[in-house]
Amino acid sequence: MTIDEAIEQNKKIIIKAYSVSESIEYFLKVALTKVLHNYGCDMLLIPLYTSVKELVVNAVKANHKFIYFEGRKSYNSVFFDSEKALQLFKLEMTRGDAHYFDLLARKQNLYAMTTMSVIDRILYIDVENPIPMSDIEKEAVGKKLKIAQDCQDITDYFIQSQEDDYKEGAGLGLVLITMMFKGMGLSQKHFFIDSDFEKTIASMHVPLTATTIQEYKKRLEETTPKSA
Ligand SMILES: Nc1ncnc2c1ncn2[C@@H]1O[C@H](COP(=O)(O)OP(=O)(O)O)[C@@H](O)[C@H]1O
Ligand SMILES: [Mg+2]
Repeated sequence: MTIDEAIEQNKKIIIKAYSVSESIEYFLKVALTKVLHNYGCDMLLIPLYTSVKELVVNAVKANHKFIYFEGRKSYNSVFFDSEKALQLFKLEMTRGDAHYFDLLARKQNLYAMTTMSVIDRILYIDVENPIPMSDIEKEAVGKKLKIAQDCQDITDYFIQSQEDDYKEGAGLGLVLITMMFKGMGLSQKHFFIDSDFEKTIASMHVPLTATTIQEYKKRLEETTPKSA
């Protein structure tokens, strides 16, 4: 079934990734472009593509980290210096070994599965991968997203999170998505990440309505510098 047919018949679109290749980026973008176009919400492509791509990168990264650490779900508890090991992992990943990790991920069925569907004009996007977040990660992420929800922009976030002990524990990807959602008038109810003992699922619920577009336009106008 093609993406067009899936949209026409209102079926789920499923995209499975074992690494973040150009073809995965292409499929995600095409699927999203077509769905949004179908509901007259072309404008939302940039924030939504940026968000879904970040979620797929996170999921693939977690899967590859699992392979790199030879199946240890919690590399915090192993005997070696986990801080150093993580740095080493990041170095490895920048060496263009993505193809090798892609093969290993396929062998172990470690995927990042993106599903998109629209029900009653609400776009549901889930990105799922079979790696749980540790309790420490969950707590760190939860804390950051709560702060992000109350911030006006990223500068505000840095000021607010100065006291946050967990600052070093996690990056900014999920924080930025939270802020982009705020820019569309949406809250933590519409973007959240959840993890149990066997998987992590990040979910976005976006109403494809005039209100969402209006909020996004308003935010764009507020943040775009006016020329004299
Ligand atoms: N799909 C996922 N599976 C497992 N862990 C995840 C997943 N997504 C996010 N995480 C955890 O949440 C942390 C925060 O993610 P993010 O804000 O995107 O920062 P970064 O990707 O720069 O680390 C990650 O470092 C990782 O520990
Ligand atoms: Mg990230």
